Amino acid sequence: MDELPHTIDSEDELIEVMTRPRPALVAFVGSLSGALVILGAGGKMGPTLALLAARAVRAAGSHVEIIAVSRFADKRTRGWLEDNGVRTVAVDLMDPGALSRLPESENVIYMVGRKFGTNRDPEETWAANTLLPARIAEHYAQARIAALSTGNVYPMVPVGSGGAVETDRLTPLGEYANSSVARERIFGFFSRRNGTPVTLIRLSYALDLRYGVLVDIATKVRAGQPVDVGMGHVNCIWQADANEMIIRSLALASSPATAINLTGVRPLAVREVAHRFGELMGRPARIAGAEGMTALLSNTEKARRALGAPPTPLDTVIRWTAHWVAAGGRVLDKPTHYEVRDGGF
Ligand SMILES: NC(=O)c1ccc[n+]([C@@H]2O[C@H](COP(=O)([O-])OP(=O)(O)OC[C@H]3O[C@@H](n4cnc5c(N)ncnc54)[C@H](OP(=O)(O)O)[C@@H]3O)[C@@H](O)[C@H]2O)c1
Repeated sequence: MDELPHTIDSEDELIEVMTRPRPALVAFVGSLSGALVILGAGGKMGPTLALLAARAVRAAGSHVEIIAVSRFADKRTRGWLEDNGVRTVAVDLMDPGALSRLPESENVIYMVGRKFGTNRDPEETWAANTLLPARIAEHYAQARIAALSTGNVYPMVPVGSGGAVETDRLTPLGEYANSSVARERIFGFFSRRNGTPVTLIRLSYALDLRYGVLVDIATKVRAGQPVDVGMGHVNCIWQADANEMIIRSLALASSPATAINLTGVRPLAVREVAHRFGELMGRPARIAGAEGMTALLSNTEKARRALGAPPTPLDTVIRWTAHWVAAGGRVLDKPTHYEVRDGGF
């Protein structure tokens, strides 16, 4: 793997670093044929995942077509993907007739999901997280599907317990988390009924420099605002590592569906991270509250056995984030609300 830079100074450099394909990914995409379809590709993760896949295809000398499907509320995202060799299809999957516009494929990555706004419009969240998975699972019954889920499907566990494992009961708090359990159950139902191979990816907190838990904490430290440590520990993963493992997780798809936890190996302590940002940015961190005995934590042993450990050290991502935020790098203004403990989003 190429050397990681000490700092990342521009969005172009960020994209370059985040979409450098490693040999394991190049080998995997080289084994695919036809098209790789990414549904819900217009959000926070999809564009870099699609470009990573496209660069891996080029490195493999393969002819697999990467097709990004989304509403593309932000038209610039669509243009940027097209400019970078990714075919796009703009469609609202809720629309009647949307399915007829979907490209054929043997390999599908499903990234659609709704979290924020659930308190205000729970119906929208349940529809997005249940109706769409049903339609997509039926439509792509002959494909294999890597479907994004979330670590929020577990209830909180004691800090120091090692985190929830895939066989734990899915009894979380709040409508978003329960609709995410439903998203999994619907993919699981169709996987059994139609024999469709499915991987359910229980992701916790991808880190970009433009959004993510570290950006949330660093932004508060820089502004001199208190960092709430009630949710005292969080699981995070560099988004490029998550994207790579999501694509490669297609190889793990099975019927009945298989679930994997995807995040960093060890949780980060929010208080320690805040103080580290304080040191790196020359501004002492202010702390509010006290650490809860429990947190939303998951154990990644299963994913590490199958796909290896995420290669990018979180210390490096903390250093990149401090530099990015201190330099006023562009952020998306999409806070993660990682501090929420009552399941309300
Ligand atoms: N990012 C994380 O840290 C994280 C952590 C845990 C789990 N996850 C899961 O991973 C998945 C991807 O994460 P993300 O952060 O990229 O999510 P995201 O920012 O919400 O992106 C999903 C995208 O799907 C598209 N979409 C939504 N409804 C659609 C519809 N009806 N028709 C077509 N496209 C639609 C939207 O893009 P446009 O409308 O702009 O096209 C949306 O931005 C999500 O399902 C999420 O649950 C993410």
